[in-house]
Amino acid sequence: MTTPTRLLIHGANGRMGQALLRLCAEQNGPCAIAGAVSRGKVGQRVIAGVPQFAASELNGAPVFDVAIDFSLPEGFDAILALCVERGVALVSGTTSLSEAQRAALQAASERIPVLWAANFSLGVAVLSELVERAAAALPGWDCDIVEAHHAQKKDAPSGTALALGVSAEQGGAQPRYASLRAGDIVGEHTVQFTTLGERIELIHRAGNRDIFARGALHAASRLRGQSPGLYQLRDLI
Ligand SMILES: NC(=O)c1ccc[n+]([C@@H]2O[C@H](COP(=O)([O-])OP(=O)(O)OC[C@H]3O[C@@H](n4cnc5c(N)ncnc54)[C@H](OP(=O)(O)O)[C@@H]3O)[C@@H](O)[C@H]2O)c1
Repeated sequence: MTTPTRLLIHGANGRMGQALLRLCAEQNGPCAIAGAVSRGKVGQRVIAGVPQFAASELNGAPVFDVAIDFSLPEGFDAILALCVERGVALVSGTTSLSEAQRAALQAASERIPVLWAANFSLGVAVLSELVERAAAALPGWDCDIVEAHHAQKKDAPSGTALALGVSAEQGGAQPRYASLRAGDIVGEHTVQFTTLGERIELIHRAGNRDIFARGALHAASRLRGQSPGLYQLRDLI
């Protein structure tokens, strides 16, 4: 029997962090939470059996196999550095990383296994392939990517919209972007191809954050023990 993958959850107090902690507990087996890290001061040292750490205490985190990071760009450098120092894998879904942070991720992949994805849902992975095929089949059509998210989301366009845009570009389209921030929308992406008299819309709607959390947990268990490298979600799901 394989031992559970020991996870460090970075960004644990956040919406994604909470979904990861809950799902890992529900799955009861393939993963175990070694520690939970948030930016703010820690109130309770242990919650539901999980040791809690502030970002300033990151270096004191216990032994883990894979870190899962859904935080903010300002927290990313520290978790990447810790994974490199400990020689363990990193799964990150934090969006809006800078060019320098992307370069650091690439450099780290020579020493540890890393996976960054703008979206951890299977549906968006398939949508991305459909977008590339549609763009290639519809030269000269307008391509517009419209995304909607909850009012607290800071970055726009979303990381997923930009990743879908890359797929559209790979098919030869030149996408434009529009963003809506309203209420508690988890995430909606429409890729619209338009020409005179006709229009195609490819739409993905996320009903809850569990789809991303499940994908990240699955990717983490697959990434454990792999050779160093920059992995794609489609390599692991
Ligand atoms: N790739 C995907 O599939 C996907 C899906 C959903 C969201 N996301 C992305 O994931 C990220 C988190 O989203 P969310 O909705 O969970 O955000 P959120 O609710 O705002 O949570 C952010 C978390 O990050 C922590 N944090 C902030 N700065 C930190 C630092 N310097 N060091 C350590 N922790 C820090 C916060 O700690 P405090 O609570 O203590 O402030 C909080 O726990 C965003 O970038 C979002 O765009 C990606």
